[in-house]
Amino acid sequence: MKFRTGGKRLSFKPASPQGLIRCNSGADSKVWMGEGNYFKAFFRPLGVMCLAYLCPEDCFRALFVLKREIHFSQDGGQLRGENIYYMQMALETAGKALGRTSPNPMVGAVVVRDGQVVGSGYHARAGTPHAEVHALREAGAKACGATLYVTLEPCCHHGRTGPCTEAVIKAGITKVVVAMEDPNPKVAGKGVKILQNAGITVETGVLEEQSRRLNEVFIKYISTRLPFVVMKTAMSLDGKIATASGESQWITGPASRAMVHRLRDRYDAILVGVGTVLADNPSLTTRLSEGGGKDPVRVVLDSRARTPVDAQIITQSSHSPTIIVTTSDAPRVKLQQLSDAGAQIMQLSADDNGICLHELLCKLAEREITSLLVEGGTRVNGTFINSNLVDKVCWFIAPKIIGGHAAPGPVGGIGITALADAMKLSDISLQRYGEDIGIEGYVAKRGE
Ligand SMILES: NC(=O)c1ccc[n+]([C@@H]2O[C@H](COP(=O)([O-])OP(=O)(O)OC[C@H]3O[C@@H](n4cnc5c(N)ncnc54)[C@H](OP(=O)(O)O)[C@@H]3O)[C@@H](O)[C@H]2O)c1
Repeated sequence: MKFRTGGKRLSFKPASPQGLIRCNSGADSKVWMGEGNYFKAFFRPLGVMCLAYLCPEDCFRALFVLKREIHFSQDGGQLRGENIYYMQMALETAGKALGRTSPNPMVGAVVVRDGQVVGSGYHARAGTPHAEVHALREAGAKACGATLYVTLEPCCHHGRTGPCTEAVIKAGITKVVVAMEDPNPKVAGKGVKILQNAGITVETGVLEEQSRRLNEVFIKYISTRLPFVVMKTAMSLDGKIATASGESQWITGPASRAMVHRLRDRYDAILVGVGTVLADNPSLTTRLSEGGGKDPVRVVLDSRARTPVDAQIITQSSHSPTIIVTTSDAPRVKLQQLSDAGAQIMQLSADDNGICLHELLCKLAEREITSLLVEGGTRVNGTFINSNLVDKVCWFIAPKIIGGHAAPGPVGGIGITALADAMKLSDISLQRYGEDIGIEGYVAKRGE
């Protein structure tokens, strides 16, 4: 839907790219049907139609006001409704940079004065201006006396760019509405305090849950210095990820596979075991139908450097590197060959499961890899799950039955004996992808 907002056209879609942020629950109808609203239900649309006829230029503005009012009344309080409405807009704006801001968070900002959006912006990538700066620049002199809606507490430290708190104060903003506190210890409430000390009214916690979900990767990374781990698997209805002969391409249909490429585009790195490299010779690149995808850094668990030098992940052209993770068991000559072919070599220690995964995650985080998509293989999935290292799962289930004892399931290892010990998921969402079903959920850490 397009609105004319203070001379500026904004595209405001109800669904976010992650499908996590809802603009409007569809409850608008309640407003029309509520007691005392029959008058509005009849005369308001009539009024808008007359306006559209008499003055088409102002029609967009009228529609905008009408939609805003619906929001305000359904949330029972003008101020609360206004906060939610503009924060929703800021969240939508932040989501435009999905998968592009690492190691920084996604942030959106909207400047509102006298009920009109006079500026909006988002943080596009690390090292470039923050969302507040873009929004304030666009607002110009109109920022003076305006309210700033921002999805994350404004920063107050000198990083790759200057502190946003300074820019906000300098612009003459009188009120700041913040979705969530910045978990970065360098900020963590200090940004809000600086604004308050400058006499600015600050309101926090507006659509906090949505903002936290949008930045789940950043929150995990900044607070633990480990990447956010997402496990993706594609399996048949009877829980097989390959046939007994190891064939797995393709279990799921084109719509699921297109979604997998969106996941690759979103996350910083992708990991497989050497078993998958040997069985499937995957390229592990991002191929979006519209182009413009970002290849994740490819990571292969390969203690003995069995990855063929002519494997696709080594020979293909890609703007992201392939890292072969090995142990001291790997022959030096083979490591040299892989390195000469363009691969990066990371040598780590081993534990009972193979390469030490905790050490690996620490090393990846040191390289500012904030998120890791694990695309399995039974054994790799098994050790990630058993080591309790997975934060989120994306499971694609195809309406196919493969059967057979020898056909592998998605999660290997010794498993559990008591059902009570099963790994549980929360915040589950279901999605249809053509004939397949996608299930997403968050892993409750064992013992929680
Ligand atoms: N449907 C799907 O979504 C999907 C996705 C991926 C793969 N697959 C299928 O899965 C099959 C391959 O699975 P797989 O279990 O044989 O191989 P895998 O999980 O891809 O790779 C396992 C290998 O990784 C190495 N490794 C090193 N450190 C490890 C650690 N900490 N944990 C686990 N592995 C570690 C080990 O080899 P070294 O000891 O030599 O280091 C191990 O044998 C293929 O048939 C493939 O088609 C299906």
